[in-house]
Amino acid sequence: MSEHVRESGGKGWQMMQLEYQPEIMKQAGQLVLDAVIEHLAKLPDAPRSNLDRAEAVARELKEAPPEDGSDFEPLLRFLMDRVIPVSINTPHPSYMAYIPGGGLYASALADFIASATNRYAGVWFAAPALSRLEANVLDWFARWMDYPPTARGILTSGGSLANFSAIVAARKHYLGDDLCRGTVYMSNQTHHSVMKAAMLAGIPEKQIHVLDVDEQFKAIPEQFEQAIESDRRRGLKPFLLVGNAGTTNTGAIDPLDALADLAQKHDLWFHVDGAYGGFFRLTDEGKQKLHGIERSDSVVLDPHKGLFVPYGTGSLVVKDGERLRKAHMLEAEYLQDHSVPEGEVNPADYSPELSRFNRGLRVWLPLKLYGVSTFRKALQEKLDLAKSLYQKFLNEPNFEVLNQPELTVTAFRYRPPRGDINEFNRRLLKAINDSKKLFLSSTMLKGQFVIRTCILSFRTHRPEIEAAFDVIRYYAHKLAK
Ligand SMILES: Cc1ncc(COP(=O)(O)O)c(C=O)c1O
Repeated sequence: MSEHVRESGGKGWQMMQLEYQPEIMKQAGQLVLDAVIEHLAKLPDAPRSNLDRAEAVARELKEAPPEDGSDFEPLLRFLMDRVIPVSINTPHPSYMAYIPGGGLYASALADFIASATNRYAGVWFAAPALSRLEANVLDWFARWMDYPPTARGILTSGGSLANFSAIVAARKHYLGDDLCRGTVYMSNQTHHSVMKAAMLAGIPEKQIHVLDVDEQFKAIPEQFEQAIESDRRRGLKPFLLVGNAGTTNTGAIDPLDALADLAQKHDLWFHVDGAYGGFFRLTDEGKQKLHGIERSDSVVLDPHKGLFVPYGTGSLVVKDGERLRKAHMLEAEYLQDHSVPEGEVNPADYSPELSRFNRGLRVWLPLKLYGVSTFRKALQEKLDLAKSLYQKFLNEPNFEVLNQPELTVTAFRYRPPRGDINEFNRRLLKAINDSKKLFLSSTMLKGQFVIRTCILSFRTHRPEIEAAFDVIRYYAHKLAK
């Protein structure tokens, strides 16, 4: 041990300097690597959730700021053994709740490089080559949506902030400073982040129209049109129409072409929320189903969903990138020394953020390592798995599926022989999740409580689907007895 490390009672060693010596970096890094690899190796057998004492544990962990440091190894063990396991096991292959993603290890390696080298990702001139890699990723997304070369985008922390920047860009373009009369249209299956984004963007809440859907939970263009015309007659200013490329509740895809026609006819910004479903466009099947997305003005795509990278990565791509820039660009004296060459992208000009984590690498590295074809195959596999699970529900008496899955969400419930159906399915979901063999979530559809399966993790394959169905059927029959 050197002056940089203090031996501490056989329990390990404590780093004494803010700057590590190379040998210490290696040792500490190796410990982390070993712990993470052990964790991931045990993943298949780990409980799908572990929230039994969650509240008590969270309370026990409250503490005052540590004036003095502590040993590294016990801290690492504390995280791995006592903190991380108290959770829903979101990277598990049998996690099919909400919208899974998995969290590619390659992205974690990219994050390590990004954090350890700590280059500045906010402005182009601070790291032009890294900025280019991020811009490449966004150019690829634009290309996958069949957007023209005028498109520009930004990697965000998630779909919520991407939706926000889209609405701000639309608002700036159509309303300028006159926010009071602006009106927005979306279906009642639209993710709540879009409504929140419109509110945050200063659109009066009563002018954000949330419209009914059809039997398959898709937007009804006629409803949009009626609302638009009625608002125009009242002197309001319709400016934004939102379509879904895969809703969170059921994975429904709105009639994107019809919505694009409507936006064109009424001169509105057409934004598509493809946070969950947009990347399915990489597959032939998805390309057909998502037809019309290429006619949108902007699209949100979440790499932490459809590209399986860890949480904290969404994206927005805007067809006329200049509109996104005009809505976010502001100059400052202290940034005057540098300019951005033609064709290059200054991230801060397209985003509310200045200093930001380098999100480009965690997307770029897996795409380069595996190639797009690997993601295309994985996404097609998820579509096929969803079809086979749907078929299992159809073949089994007393199960009812509320949607015809277009992507990978199936919303189902069990019809019990007696008693309240909603109450039964609430108990069924609890029994499934308490088994710790599977983790699912619920939603409300047409006022009914339903359970959802969403298949999107790169780790989920046929055996997990077979096992998931067995668990669901087992607990349904057990509770129905
Ligand atoms: C369709 C859709 N849009 C937007 C979001 C919000 O994305 P994020 O959670 O990344 O902010 C989600 C999240 O699940 C979603 O499913």
